[in-house]
Amino acid sequence: MRDLRMSRRRVLEIGGALGLLAATGLSGAAALSRRPPVTGAELRSAVPLPPAFSVPLPIPAVLAPVSTSGGVDRYAITQRETTAEILPGVRTPLWTYGGTFPGPTIEARRGRPITVTHRNELPVPTVVHLHGGRTPADSDGYPTDLVLPAGWPDATHHGHGGHAMAGMHDPRAVHRKLTRDYTFPMDQRSSLLWYHDHRMDFTAPAIWRGLAGLHIVRDDAEEALGLPSGSRELPLMIADRAFAADGSLDYPALDPTLRGQPGVRESYLAGVLGDVILVNGAPWPVHEVDAARYRLRILNASNARHYELEAVLDDGRRLELVQIGADQGLLAAPVTHTSLPIAPAERYDVIVDFAGVPVGSLVKVVNRLGSGRTGDVMAFRVARKATDDSRVPAVLSTDLPSWNRADAVRVREFSFRAGQLNGGHGWLIGGLPFDPARSDVTVGLGDVEVWRFVADVHHPVHLHLVGFQVLSRGGRPPLPHDAGLKDTVSLRPGEAAEIITRFDGYRGRYLFHCHNAEHEDMGMMANLEVV
Ligand code: C2O
Ligand code: CU
Ligand code: CU
Repeated sequence: MRDLRMSRRRVLEIGGALGLLAATGLSGAAALSRRPPVTGAELRSAVPLPPAFSVPLPIPAVLAPVSTSGGVDRYAITQRETTAEILPGVRTPLWTYGGTFPGPTIEARRGRPITVTHRNELPVPTVVHLHGGRTPADSDGYPTDLVLPAGWPDATHHGHGGHAMAGMHDPRAVHRKLTRDYTFPMDQRSSLLWYHDHRMDFTAPAIWRGLAGLHIVRDDAEEALGLPSGSRELPLMIADRAFAADGSLDYPALDPTLRGQPGVRESYLAGVLGDVILVNGAPWPVHEVDAARYRLRILNASNARHYELEAVLDDGRRLELVQIGADQGLLAAPVTHTSLPIAPAERYDVIVDFAGVPVGSLVKVVNRLGSGRTGDVMAFRVARKATDDSRVPAVLSTDLPSWNRADAVRVREFSFRAGQLNGGHGWLIGGLPFDPARSDVTVGLGDVEVWRFVADVHHPVHLHLVGFQVLSRGGRPPLPHDAGLKDTVSLRPGEAAEIITRFDGYRGRYLFHCHNAEHEDMGMMANLEVV
């Protein structure tokens, strides 16, 4: 990809992006003023769905280490098929980490390394990526670094990186049979991360089937703040799904075995949306709370669905959402919102105070971008008065980097647009579909760079290895929810945004890509080599 200056051609390209919007049913100026709320097409479930706010909110279990000796915490996770009751009375086959969806939560301490041994008992190869992890490249889950299930033919020695379909050759792919150790130094800020499958061409359906879990990094400085904790700290993994008549998760895969032909049926090329909103794997759940402050650690683990979250009381009043953290940990100072947009893979750390809410009443978390049942997410029932000694300090962290445009050794620009892939529809970065063997971007370890992204439709753009700051959006200062250190920035249709980061940490082969998982599988990914 090239370094570009703002040019006449750029302007024309942005015009082209709007042209695509026109092709999807919106025309030029109208597209910008009336952006479509989502990019993707919705599947309709074929089983009866439960009423909202009737199923209790599950909290994913925290995984116990198998050993803590030698300064390393060791964990073991078996990836396996199971059946779970997600909708009351309906049995749903899943692909899971350790038998549950979401998978077990890993709790790590900053600076204390962990090793997770993953064992693949699924019928297809897998790859584990710790999203937001500052991870050496050999444990980062490059999409061709496969863990092969028993009996899977290993094509590596035939000169294929195990990727027969598109005939792509990846000489650097490292395959393991059955198990693989992933080592995470955890030399990073306290934050909510998540782990998920990352196999080339098949990430979207694998996550959809259940391969996602939470990973929390904690440290002393954060614990000293006095934020709500224990049962008043709630991880919330939001994900939409749809259910087929037999109870299975519906997904428009061209090859439902996920072994051969990648991709989805034509009407879902822009992204797969479900009509059921799950939080921690439960449909529109409800959770009983004290009339006190809670810390909500929200992840959008949906493939393609964007949400705009609000907490609404019975009388229509909205509770403040006090943002204390972003993708990569605590903000410098709290930012108060009444409405919070969240794109796939983004995280927000939010304090909600239920103290003023009448006991017995319901606080609904709604999605302003949804309609009908996708307009609801979950609810809190305020059950009792309670004492509250938690605090939300005015200063949350003092270790955030402060990069300036003047520090950048270069500016790069990338378009995120629809295009051709193997003669069909694809999603491209800088006009090219992903090729593991191609060199796209090479950065120097320690260099500060500014990257400018331009989008046609919604594209949540994610960089591996580093956190970044949003410098500008649509030629203007960033929005309030762009605050802090992020690893995913949500580009809206026709929008351009700039980020700034230092490529710190480790040398090696990483990625950047769109986190609309269908776009990612259909080419919208590129190599980032740190040298
Ligand atoms: Cu969650 Cu490469 O991403
Ligand atoms: Cu990632
Ligand atoms: Cu995209």
